[in-house]
Order: sequence, then structure tokens, then C-alpha cells
Amino acid sequence: MTGFFDSGFGGLCILEAFLRECPGEPFVYIADNANCPYGNKSQPEIVAIAERLTKELIARGCNPIVLACNTATAQAIDFLREAHPEINFVGLEPAIKPAALSSRSGVVGVLATRGTFAGRLYRATSCRYAGNVKVITQVADDWVELVERGVTDGPEAEKAVADKILPLLAAGADRLVLGCTHFPHLRPVIERLAAGRAEVVDSSLAVARQIRRFVKS
Ligand code: DGL
Repeated sequence: MTGFFDSGFGGLCILEAFLRECPGEPFVYIADNANCPYGNKSQPEIVAIAERLTKELIARGCNPIVLACNTATAQAIDFLREAHPEINFVGLEPAIKPAALSSRSGVVGVLATRGTFAGRLYRATSCRYAGNVKVITQVADDWVELVERGVTDGPEAEKAVADKILPLLAAGADRLVLGCTHFPHLRPVIERLAAGRAEVVDSSLAVARQIRRFVKS
């Protein structure tokens, strides 16, 4: 059985991609709404939350366990791997590599939470591609709250999206990396506002394929 957790609805886009790859596979999904948002919590807080949810998923017989959340991955996956070597953990990272390799303008915009940008993984990945492209970051914590309220289209969503992506587009970004699992819920709005200027890049499909490797083995 595959276990998933996120601070709320965000990780459902990972679950959806997984079920397209592995139809009918049993799963447990924990939407930790009580602790949402994770984005501005300290590392010790996120580690404690992630550890508690991991133990709950292990108790339900889950392996692999998917951190369907970029923030939890950035802040806690190293700890979880060390604490539970018997479990295959799959995490989420902003898809900078495909964005950097496909960018024509040489400018890539990355949208994520504060906690994701602060993590070791993000710094390592962005450094790796920083020589080839210019990577511009944008904290979009407010999008998480919008998605949790079910506001994924309409004037409020459009304004929130425009506020964050227009500066990236003005700086020449032709790829917008969605580095938070809540953000694909806003994808139609993002694509509409970025049309003709930038393409949206997210890692749901790549992660779903990675999870499948553990499920079928
Ligand atoms: N969906 C999560 C992420 O990918 C968490 C967002 C939050 O709770 O701040 O970062």
C-alpha cells in the first residue's frame, strides 16, 4: 500500500498522477489540514509533523511513503530516511532541470513556499543549473491558502497569480516551475495569464513514475 501526505489538498495532484500510472493501486492519503500551511513553519516543527504522519502511515502498512509536498521534502526527508531505513520515501522537488534544459530565454522562474527555498535540496539543485540559466525565485505562500479555500479560478485567483508571475515574466522567464503541490490546482489560471510568454513545468508525472518503480518491485 502506498502512503501519501501533504498539508492539505495540494498532494492530491500527485495522487491523481499516481493513479493514472497505477490504476486501482491501494493507497492512504493524509491531508494534514490541521497543520496547514507548512510553508512558514520552522524545520523542527515540520520534522515533528512529518515523523508523526510517517508513523501513522507505517502503522497502516504503507511502503512506499510519498511526501506529496515540496516543503516537507525540503525540510524533513533526510531525517525520515535516516529514522526509517526500511521505508522507500519519495519526495517532491521543484523541476528546475527540465525547465533549465528547455528554456530558450535562459531565464527560469520558480514558485514555491519559503520553506522549500530554504532547504538544502533546493539550494543544491538550483546551484547545479545556475551556470546555464538564470533562476529567479518567487515565494507564493498565499496561493496555498487560496487552494485550501477552494478558490482556483475567478478574479481573486487571477489577481493572486498575476501578482506573483508578472514580475517573473517581466524578467524574461519563459518557464514557470510549480514548486509546491498546491500550485497545479491553479494551473489553468497560470497558463491563461502566461500564454504565449511562458510554459508551466511541474513534476507530478515524473514523481508518479518514480513511485511506480517502488510499487511494482
Ligand atoms: N503543498 C505543500 C508544498 O508542496 C505545502 C504547502 C504549505 O502547506 O505551505 O510545499
